[in-house]
Amino acid sequence: MEAPRLLKYLTESSFLSGEAVANRLNISRAAVWKEIEALRRLGYEVEAVPNKGYRLAGRPDRLYPWEIQSGLDAEFMGREIHYFASIDSTNNAAKAMLGNGPPEGTLVLAEEQTTGRGRMGRFWSSAPDKGIWMSLILRPRIPVADLPKMTILTGVAVRRAIVEATGMEPLIKWPNDILLDGRKICGILAELSGEIDRVAFLVMGMGINVNHEKHDFPEELREKAGSLAMTEGKPFSRVELVRLALKHFEDTYQQACQNGFSDVLSECRRYSATLGRTVTIREGSREITGLAEALGDDGGLILRLSSGESIPVYAGEMI
Ligand code: BTN
Repeated sequence: MEAPRLLKYLTESSFLSGEAVANRLNISRAAVWKEIEALRRLGYEVEAVPNKGYRLAGRPDRLYPWEIQSGLDAEFMGREIHYFASIDSTNNAAKAMLGNGPPEGTLVLAEEQTTGRGRMGRFWSSAPDKGIWMSLILRPRIPVADLPKMTILTGVAVRRAIVEATGMEPLIKWPNDILLDGRKICGILAELSGEIDRVAFLVMGMGINVNHEKHDFPEELREKAGSLAMTEGKPFSRVELVRLALKHFEDTYQQACQNGFSDVLSECRRYSATLGRTVTIREGSREITGLAEALGDDGGLILRLSSGESIPVYAGEMI
């Protein structure tokens, strides 16, 4: 999806006459009017002042690729972006692209997901224009045993982005939820393609609740789900958050691929909502209750059971 040609010119000058636009784009005055209308339909505010011309008076908080890429401080995360106004699931769309050999860091994002997917086959509520529903395509060259740590890494990166954009200090709930005031504001869904001992692609899906009000969530989620806006009482720029998420993801990912996951794990321990609490984890059909006493170097959560024994848990969900 290309940036509208006119946007660049309007961004560069305070006022641009219809004639100047027509000359620059080598089109008729009527065609200029059509381009202005097209920009408005995308949500840009274009003011027309008699004898002065057109002025860009406002940009929409829409996740257009050109908005994210301008001012993006990342080398390869988000250099290729596939944008959808509405889609079933960005993870599904990302997986459908894998056969074409997409470059690492390709981003798929949508304003709305009609059947957003959560972990354990659950539905992920993805209200239009309120949150960030995005999936990154990766080709991690790391040992297969390190893969579960990629979700921890993602939680750490998204947390950093939220801290930088909002000044708020969310916590990470093992293995990969982000909480603010005890409410879930972000979930992560990692999906793999490849062979048992060799990962071809990793699709890392992230859902961040940004500008939701309570009524934007389905009834059954209203007590548990939260958003950045609900906590702070004001909306945040989703474009800015996507840029920061890409930057922090790239930083932590490159660092972990080169030097291992120890920094990511330390950061997750420091901002953990789980450690030090008694928790119950459902792993398939079994439930284990214990004191979450540590996060192991392999990404497992170490639980001290009532018997006094300590055991690591690698998968499952906390109930
Ligand atoms: C969870 O906490 O259960 C994980 C939720 C993951 C949601 C994101 S939104 C973008 C991507 N596309 C999906 O269908 N799911 C993930």
